[in-house]
Amino acid sequence: MIYPDPTSRSAQLYERAKKVMPAGNSRLTVAMSPYPIYIERGEGYRVWDVDGVERIDCVNNMTSLIHGHRHPDVSEALAKQAAKVWTVAAPTEPEIGLAEILTARVSGVDKVRFCNSGTEAVMFAIRAARAFTGRSKVAKAEGAYNGASDPMATGVMAHAPGWGDSKAPVTMRDGIGVAESAVEEVITFPFNDIDATRDLLRAHGSELAAVVLCPLPSRMKYPIASPEFAAMLREVCTEQGIMLILDEVMSFRLGYGGSQDILTTQPDIVAFAKIIGGGLPVGAFGGRSDIMDVFDHTQGKAFVLHGGTYNANPLSMAAGEAALKAWTPSEVERLNGLGERFRDGMRTLLRNSNIAGVVGGAGSLCAAGLGDSGGPIQNYRDYVSRTFDPNLNGAFYRGMLNRGVMFSEGGIFILSTPMTEDTIDHILDTAKDTLKSVVSTQ
Ligand SMILES: Cc1ncc(COP(=O)(O)O)c(C=O)c1O
Repeated sequence: MIYPDPTSRSAQLYERAKKVMPAGNSRLTVAMSPYPIYIERGEGYRVWDVDGVERIDCVNNMTSLIHGHRHPDVSEALAKQAAKVWTVAAPTEPEIGLAEILTARVSGVDKVRFCNSGTEAVMFAIRAARAFTGRSKVAKAEGAYNGASDPMATGVMAHAPGWGDSKAPVTMRDGIGVAESAVEEVITFPFNDIDATRDLLRAHGSELAAVVLCPLPSRMKYPIASPEFAAMLREVCTEQGIMLILDEVMSFRLGYGGSQDILTTQPDIVAFAKIIGGGLPVGAFGGRSDIMDVFDHTQGKAFVLHGGTYNANPLSMAAGEAALKAWTPSEVERLNGLGERFRDGMRTLLRNSNIAGVVGGAGSLCAAGLGDSGGPIQNYRDYVSRTFDPNLNGAFYRGMLNRGVMFSEGGIFILSTPMTEDTIDHILDTAKDTLKSVVSTQ
C-alpha cells in the first residue's frame, strides 16, 4: 500500500479521530498531512501499521525507545510488575532500584526524584534551582526545546521580525496560550556563541536561578554544544552562583553516564526522561544532595512542594530498571558506532549523488537535511539561514516511508539496540534508491 491512500484504514481512522479531537490528535509531533499512519504493533526495530504495512522504526517514539519495541527483558519486568500492582498511593521497591541506577551512573547526581515527563523534569529542576538560589529568572538557548512548561515555551520557534540581535536574542513566546509573563522570566542566549552568552549571563547573573542546556538540540538538526561553550557555561554559572541544569531528556542516550561522558562539564542539576522509563511515561531530576534537599520536607524548614499521582509508578520504574540494565557500556558503544556508520554512509551517499545536504548528530541521534551545502550547523540562527529544500526533503521522507523506513519528518533518524550493521546498511541502501528516484522526478 502506497501512502497516501484515502481507502486505507489509517485514513478512515483519522476521519473518526477528527470528530473527537482538534486536528484529530493529541501530539503535534505525530501529525502528518493528509493523515497520520496509525500503528498497530511493534517488535524490535520494526512496526506494523493498521493496514499491515511493515516498516523500520527510525523514530523510536522521539528517542524514548533505546531498545526498540517490546524488548524481552522489559516485557518480562512489566509482566512481573503487572501481576503485583500497577499503581498505588505508596512507594514501591522498583523506584529505589531505578534511583540507584541513575545515581550510580551519572556524575554529580547524588539524589533523584521521579515525575512523569521531560517537561515536568525540567520544570522541577528549575523549581529546585529557584528554591536553592532564591532567584527567579532562567536562561535557555534560542531554538532549543526544553519541554512545554511556560518559561520553556519561549524562543523555540523564534523568528524575524522581533527576535532581535543574534548576540542578545529577544525572548519570544511560542505562540498564543503561553503566559505573557513567561518572556519576563527568560533570558535567551545564542547556542555555541561563547562571548555573547558569557556577556548575557554576566549582565543578568544576579537575577538568574538557572541556565538550562540541552547539549544536542534536535530542532537545529543536532549541533553539539562545543566543549569550550559547555566549559564557559560551567565557569560563568559557578562565578555567578547560577545552577547549571543539563537537560538530558533526549541526550542521556549518548553515553552510559549520559552526555557528560562526552562533554565532561559537570552540571548542578540533571533532568531525565525518555529512555529511563523503558518506553513508559517517566521523568526524573537529580543533583547534588544539598540542592536536592530543597525537596526534603522532614528537615523542619521550607521545602519545594512536589507531588504527582503517577510519580514513580511501579510499571514505569520496573520497565526503566530493566531497560537501563540492558543498556550496558558495550551496548552504548555498539549503538553509537551504528550512529557513526549511518552518518558516514549518508554523507558518502549525498556526495556520490551530487546532492547538497547536512548530516548532523552524535551517538544514536542522527539528522539529515537536503538542499543546503553549508557544512555543520552551529546554532538556531545558523539553522534558520540554511536553504533546506522543503520539496526535496518531503519527497525523500515520503519515498523512504513507501520503501519501508519511517523517520521523523524533521529529518531525524533515531537508532535502537535491536539494529545491527546490516539494518543500517539496509536503511542506507533504501536512502540510495529513494534519492535516485527523487532526483529523477524533481
Ligand atoms: C531536550 C528535551 N527536553 C524536554 C523534553 C520534554 O519531554 P516530554 O516530551 O517527555 O515532556 C523533550 C522532548 O522531546 C526534549 O527533547
